[in-house]
Amino acid sequence: MMIHWQTQATDSLNGSIKVPGDKSISHRSIMLGAIAEGRTEITGFLAGEDCIATRNAFAAMGVSIRDVGETMVVDGVGLHGLKAPPAAIDVGNSGTGMRLLAGVLAGQAFASVLVGDASLMARPMQRVAKPLSAMGADIQTEANGCAPIRIKPAGHLHAIHYRQPVASAQVKSALLLAGLYAEGETVISEPGISRDHSERMLRHFGYAVERQKDSRRVITKLVGGGRLTATNINVPADISSAAFFLVAGAIAAKAEICIKQVGINPTRTGIIDILRLMGADLTYSKNNQSDEPVADIIVKNARLKGIVVPKRLVPLAIDEFPVIFIAAACAEGEFILRNAKELRVKESDRIAAMINGLTALGVDCEELPDGVIIRGNPDNPFPRSAEINSLTDHRIAMAFAVAGLRADKGLLIKDCANAATSFPHFIDLAKSIGLKINEVS
Ligand code: S3P
Repeated sequence: MMIHWQTQATDSLNGSIKVPGDKSISHRSIMLGAIAEGRTEITGFLAGEDCIATRNAFAAMGVSIRDVGETMVVDGVGLHGLKAPPAAIDVGNSGTGMRLLAGVLAGQAFASVLVGDASLMARPMQRVAKPLSAMGADIQTEANGCAPIRIKPAGHLHAIHYRQPVASAQVKSALLLAGLYAEGETVISEPGISRDHSERMLRHFGYAVERQKDSRRVITKLVGGGRLTATNINVPADISSAAFFLVAGAIAAKAEICIKQVGINPTRTGIIDILRLMGADLTYSKNNQSDEPVADIIVKNARLKGIVVPKRLVPLAIDEFPVIFIAAACAEGEFILRNAKELRVKESDRIAAMINGLTALGVDCEELPDGVIIRGNPDNPFPRSAEINSLTDHRIAMAFAVAGLRADKGLLIKDCANAATSFPHFIDLAKSIGLKINEVS
């Protein structure tokens, strides 16, 4: 069913909320739990469509995964205990699901096929297929480099040293997962910092992962042939989902919102650094250090200003740029983002999708090959009413829903059903702090 959102402006936001579990960590908790030895109990798992697809994939490969109250119980089958799935594995909209699964499946003694929805089937998969082939995997994409990904048993994987052209946690994680099955030491070099949830969680399952950093590259290493020991995982709230309310609070005329127990892993907090550079009023309280650090984040309204986004923060905020652009439209002066070409190959081309929507709303902005320039107006950021095409991209839909609070003439956001891939009940939570959004079909 086509779901659209209609928004109305509002002045004041207030409340204390908990957003759903972290998507990246939820995917990994199922994957590592499934190939560990013993029982893993997961709390805080994100019951969004993307992570449910990963859960279903491992269930189809013979792993027992049950809900016991609020806890998900995974009976791991060990690195070599997965069974051939009866059909192609459909991961829906999830790039993380597809790329990380490719890494696991490359090491199996059975054949498999990975498929997804129209958006995912148009995204580049050579970035994982190529290095996995170099490890000896028998893995094919279509001629255009996209899914279906077809994997056949390769017999034997060997470790490689791989130099990633871009910082990507999905590529790194696929290679680390395949590296578990490979003979020798897999060494991955990246030109910047990407999220390190796989490394942290592998260690949490008792597997040694080494990490080194110099001024130019980040190196991650793991030796194949070990074992993962089951453990318990507490998934923190997703900072990428919290991001919508951080920006909502920052751009509202009056706001005080507390977002509870959000994951503040430093490889994910680019949004916090960028919003603070723009003048946002954000504070942490109740910090808690464990495998994945968490804190309550309090946001109050503030006068924002445009900035040039520092290059090193780009991979650390890669999923948050759609909503950061909304903050930029509400800020004084020029906001410039460059070095963010990756945004063009996410669930949609997020540079084009955002510039089209912002232009339709009357924002002074320009599209660059690898970024944007936005000249915001804090007094009247969205002077025109418009129909926004979300291109079925969850983060585009939710970013414009946040813009709606400052769009006096209202806006209609088309095709928003995919918000459920990462943020089930987004509208209800948004309404609970004062946003005015209604679902229309
Ligand atoms: C993710 C990594 C990021 C991010 C995606 C989730 C992950 O992709 O955009 O939403 O869980 O590893 P890249 O690392 O490929 O940029």
